Amino acid sequence: MTRWDLAGKVAVVTGGAGAIGSAICKGLGQAGAKVAVVDFNSGVAAKTAGDLARAGITAVSLAVDVADEKSVRAAAADIAGRWGSLDIVVNAAGNFIRSSLLETTEEEWDRTVDTHLKGSFLWAREAAAYMIPRRFGRIINVSSEVAVTGGRYGIAYAAAKAGIIGLTRSLARSLAPHAITANALAPGTTDTPLWRGGLTEGPALEEARAAKSKGVPLGRLGDPEDFVGLVLLLSSEEGSYITGQTIHVNGGAVMA
Ligand SMILES: NC(=O)c1ccc[n+]([C@@H]2O[C@H](COP(=O)([O-])OP(=O)(O)OC[C@H]3O[C@@H](n4cnc5c(N)ncnc54)[C@H](O)[C@@H]3O)[C@@H](O)[C@H]2O)c1
Repeated sequence: MTRWDLAGKVAVVTGGAGAIGSAICKGLGQAGAKVAVVDFNSGVAAKTAGDLARAGITAVSLAVDVADEKSVRAAAADIAGRWGSLDIVVNAAGNFIRSSLLETTEEEWDRTVDTHLKGSFLWAREAAAYMIPRRFGRIINVSSEVAVTGGRYGIAYAAAKAGIIGLTRSLARSLAPHAITANALAPGTTDTPLWRGGLTEGPALEEARAAKSKGVPLGRLGDPEDFVGLVLLLSSEEGSYITGQTIHVNGGAVMA
């Protein structure tokens, strides 16, 4: 059991089937929250929810494209109808397309910005409608260190992650009168399928890990578990005075 008590809370984690999202689902569930695993990868989302249920956590999976307004609205209504509230939203769905400026197509730009930025907006707006009457809500948007460093590859990704910081500040101002907080979590490079891209275990991946780790004062890449504690703090009663912040969790790689 963790030190955070989220008993009775209802949490949604988008990208809940992914590496960071599923670690966050487990952490929220172990703290007592009911967890909706939202992802467009329905098979892995169902497996994640099944694993949570076997660990004694109340969980459900929903197949949702976060960039699709109708699906997001229907999923939010389903969760609130099923469990009576929608208290915590973690926007962790994401894609990464490794394109330079001249390579980035309009379609890649739209897909990336829609997934990260529009998806976070849609979930925040839909969830806020359920949070406002209850005067409780926590919105945690996953940004990235590249929001502040920029990147030569993943132009749309860095722009979308920077946009998430601006969105989070506006959410914090809009929702503060209702006692709802909104914060951005900005992870550093983390060893997940999204970061590995096409690389499979072998010398090339080892080399990439070693090269990236060199720039991290704490000497290693992030692990999905590294973000769970902050999400629990921000979700808890103890986090009620933290809003509008971007919190970097990156082993010191970027000190912003
Ligand atoms: N891995 C890193 O180095 C790193 C660093 C900073 C930030 N992040 C961010 O952390 C979050 C989680 O990434 P991860 O590394 O765990 O990657 P991941 O690929 O393991 O997980 C991402 C999940 O998002 C889902 N997804 C993608 N597009 C979606 C959509 N339109 N609708 C619904 N689900 C969708 C995928 O199916 C996948 O399950 C992302 O927002 C990512 O940008 C990752």
